[in-house]
Amino acid sequence: MLRFYRIPVLLFGAKRLSRSFELFEKAKRLFPGGVNSPIRAAVKPYPFYVKEAQGAILRDVDGNEYIDYVLGYGPLILGHKHPEVLKAVEEQLERGWLYGTPHEMEIALAEKIVSHLPSVDMVRFVNSGTEATMTAIRLARGYTKRNKIIKFDGCYHGAHDSVLVKAGSAVSHYGLPGSAGVPEALSKLTLVVPYNDPATLEKVAKENKDGLAAIIVEPVMGNAGVILPEKDFLKALRQVADETGALLIFDEVITGYRLGLSGAQGYFGVMPDLTTLGKIVGGGFPVGVIGGKREIMEYLTPTGPVFNAGTFNAHPVTMAAGLATVKELERGYVYEVANKAAERVAKAIEQELVSRFGGVVNRIASMFQWFPKVDEVKNYSDAQKADKQLAVKLHEELLKRGVFIAPSMFEAWFTSAAHSDDVVEKTIEAISEVARVLKNDA
Ligand SMILES: Cc1ncc(COP(=O)(O)O)c(C=O)c1O
Repeated sequence: MLRFYRIPVLLFGAKRLSRSFELFEKAKRLFPGGVNSPIRAAVKPYPFYVKEAQGAILRDVDGNEYIDYVLGYGPLILGHKHPEVLKAVEEQLERGWLYGTPHEMEIALAEKIVSHLPSVDMVRFVNSGTEATMTAIRLARGYTKRNKIIKFDGCYHGAHDSVLVKAGSAVSHYGLPGSAGVPEALSKLTLVVPYNDPATLEKVAKENKDGLAAIIVEPVMGNAGVILPEKDFLKALRQVADETGALLIFDEVITGYRLGLSGAQGYFGVMPDLTTLGKIVGGGFPVGVIGGKREIMEYLTPTGPVFNAGTFNAHPVTMAAGLATVKELERGYVYEVANKAAERVAKAIEQELVSRFGGVVNRIASMFQWFPKVDEVKNYSDAQKADKQLAVKLHEELLKRGVFIAPSMFEAWFTSAAHSDDVVEKTIEAISEVARVLKNDA
C-alpha cells in the first residue's frame, strides 16, 4: 500500500520539479511537443511526470503530491488503483492477457452494459472512444446508405477525420478550426450546428434530409467545459432524427457511467439509436464500445457489411477492469461520494471565484467547469466568450498548491469515490487561497 505524505505548500510554489524537467527535455526529442496527446503539453512550463497514484492522489517523480480532478480525463470514477479493479486485473493477468479468441469476461461486461443502458441490445468492444465514434458513424452510414452527418459546435468525438470539424477539447484549446490533413471532401459531409438550438438543427436536417445518415451529440457537452442540454433539447434531437430517417448517436464516452448506471439516456429519458462508450467502462484501460438496437448492430461484420475488426478488441485485461468498475458502481456509494464532492467544490468556486470575478459554474453529477466572466454558457460560442486565460491561471495556481485540474477551460473537473471530505476540504482551502492571490494580481 502506498503511503503519501503532505508536502508543504511552499515546496509546490518553489516547484521542486527537477526530475520532471529532465524527463520532459528528453521527451521533446522523442515525441512531437514532448507528449503523446496534445493537452498534456498544456501544463506549463512542462508537465509533471507521475510516479504513482492512489485514491485521489497523484505523486510525481520529484515527490510532490497532487489532488487529482483530471482522473485520466474522466475514466477513473473510482479513483486511482481501486483495490477491486487491481484484484480483477491481477487475476486476469494470471490467466494470460490476450487470446485472439472469445472469453467469458467480454460476455459478463456486455451483459452489464445491456442491462444498464435502455437503448442497447448488443455491443461491439473496441479500444478507444475515437474508434467507437468512428465505427458508429460508419455503421450509421452503412445502415442508412447515406453519407452526411450533423455534429454540434464544440462537441468532441475523438481524433478521426469525420468529426474533426469545429471540435472541442484540445482542438479548441489550441485554437484550431479542425485538423490539417482531413480531406475537404470528407469535412463537407459533416454539418455543424449550435448546441441547444433545436430550430437550426431542424432546418439543417430537413435541408439535407435525403443524405443525412446520423446526428451525433455529446448529450452533455464535456469537451467545451461542461454544458448542459436545455429542457427538451435532447427530445428535439430524437424527433428530428425520426422525421429525417437519420440515426441518433449519443456519444456517452464521458457521460456513460458518470451520470449514473444508465448514462445520459437514462438521466434525461431520451433513447438514441446508437450509443458510444469509453473511459469509465474500461476501468482505466483502453476501451471503446458501440452499442445499439440489434437490427442496426447486426450490420457490423461478420453478420453485416459494415467492417470493424481489432487485434485488441474486448481485451481481457480491459474487460476485467471494466467489469470490476461497473460492479462497484452498482453498489451506489460511488455516485453519492463523487457527486457530493463535486457539489461542494463547485459551491466553493461560486463563493470564492464567481463572487470575485464573475462567471458561472455548470455542473451535473460529478463533472463541472467554471466559465469566468460570463453570465451563462449554453453553447460553444458562449463558452468562447469566457475568460480562458483566467481559467488557465486557476489551473497554474492550484497546481502550485497541490491540486491538479485540467490546463484548459475546454475540459471538465471530475470527482471520484476517492474524493472524500478531507480531500475536498484541502481543495477548498487551496481554492480560497488562489482566489485571494488572483484578486491581488488583477
Ligand atoms: C465525448 C468523447 N467522445 C470521444 C472521445 C475520444 O475518446 P478517446 O480519447 O478514448 O479516443 C472523447 C475523449 O475525450 C470524448 O470526450
